[in-house]
Amino acid sequence: MRKLRTQVGIVGAGPAGLLLSQLLYLHGVESVIVENRSRDYVEHRVRAGVLEQGSVDVLNEAGVGERMRREGLLHHGIELRFGGSGHRIDFPALTGGRSITVYGQQEVVKDLIAARLAADGQILFEVSDVAVGQIESSSPRITFRDSGDEVELSCDAIAGCDGFHGICRQAIPVEILRVFERAYPFAWLGILAEAPPTHDELIYAYHERGFALYSMRSPQITRLYLQVAPDEDIAKWPDERIWRELHARLETADGWKLREGSVLEKGITGMRSFVVEPMQHGRLFLAGDAAHIVPPTGAKGMNLAVADVRVLARALTAFFKEQRRNLLDAYSVTCLKRVWRAEHFSWWMTSMLHRFPDDDGFQHRLQRSQLEYVVSSPAAAASLAENYVGLPLD
Ligand code: APR
Ligand code: PHB
Repeated sequence: MRKLRTQVGIVGAGPAGLLLSQLLYLHGVESVIVENRSRDYVEHRVRAGVLEQGSVDVLNEAGVGERMRREGLLHHGIELRFGGSGHRIDFPALTGGRSITVYGQQEVVKDLIAARLAADGQILFEVSDVAVGQIESSSPRITFRDSGDEVELSCDAIAGCDGFHGICRQAIPVEILRVFERAYPFAWLGILAEAPPTHDELIYAYHERGFALYSMRSPQITRLYLQVAPDEDIAKWPDERIWRELHARLETADGWKLREGSVLEKGITGMRSFVVEPMQHGRLFLAGDAAHIVPPTGAKGMNLAVADVRVLARALTAFFKEQRRNLLDAYSVTCLKRVWRAEHFSWWMTSMLHRFPDDDGFQHRLQRSQLEYVVSSPAAAASLAENYVGLPLD
């Protein structure tokens, strides 16, 4: 058995684990990341793409913002489309100047991996059989196999940044962990298309055929989503059918046209809301999707991961550098406040914009009324806008 030691053992090289490692490095705290996938796999996994202003600030402070500042697309609003017309929500006007940046999660991951490796950071890719143990002691362990060798990494603290399907959450005893959950009766079919965007901002469309979202990744690449059944078979969605449905749900009488292009990527993602409390036990701290999931309608997933690790990096730094436990003890409570705000916002956006299978006329009229209120009342629009651009980080 090979034995290693570090201050913070991090499970998972997604945005949460990588950014935590980078922030700790900048504060002089050592960490090692273990990841069961390859570098190539994590760098090309297509995921979310919207960064709140606060997340952009954290990435800049972490020294990984150079390409994001160059290639990220600054958006000052979104459009809500329903009843045959579009309505713009103007973010800066409603939030005292705040905006969002469209930049793919896998680009954030690439920038973070490059920064960690350039600083001799340790990321062990393609490890297997990862397990965490002794989390109630002051010397918790991560064990795994690396190229066939058994390895034990002993740490002062473990960060469980291993996403929704990871193993860290299960290390918290069941009698301590509370789970809060909602499943939605639909999924999103997403495509990445080689087609220059024909609209400058994201379009969220409420349509009788179901929700659709118009997004983008770059001046050459469009990202599009359709509401589909939760158990939808992707084989039933050849490209022509996807484009037909996108045209029907997104285009309105104003003459705006969606541009088609070759489909580079296609996938179906389930929708759920999920939170565990507490986000910590002993010396184990969960961050990002390992602790909470939001449906993508509010564009909050990656931003919550960033907010968690910012709190965790500060708390661990106070622990190692000043022997103060207070921030670490408060980690879960501090994060959950923001998590529940984002859970509510994501659930609200999802409920307002999708067609539910058991809907009746009463439900449709409530949704239409809510949409009309949001686009006509400055107070309601400001509430959507301030949640979308992100409430200030503590
Ligand atoms: N051992 C090691 N690594 C693991 C294990 C394991 N047992 N299980 C999962 N992982 C890795 C995954 O391969 C992945 O690279 O942990 C990483 C978790 O990364 P993400 O799923 O991207 O989660 P997170 O970093 O919290 O980022 C949240 O991801 O799903 C999106 O919408 C979500 O944008 C949000 C972001
Ligand atoms: C995306 O571009 O992938 C995206 C944008 C906004 C969302 C969800 C996903 O709400």
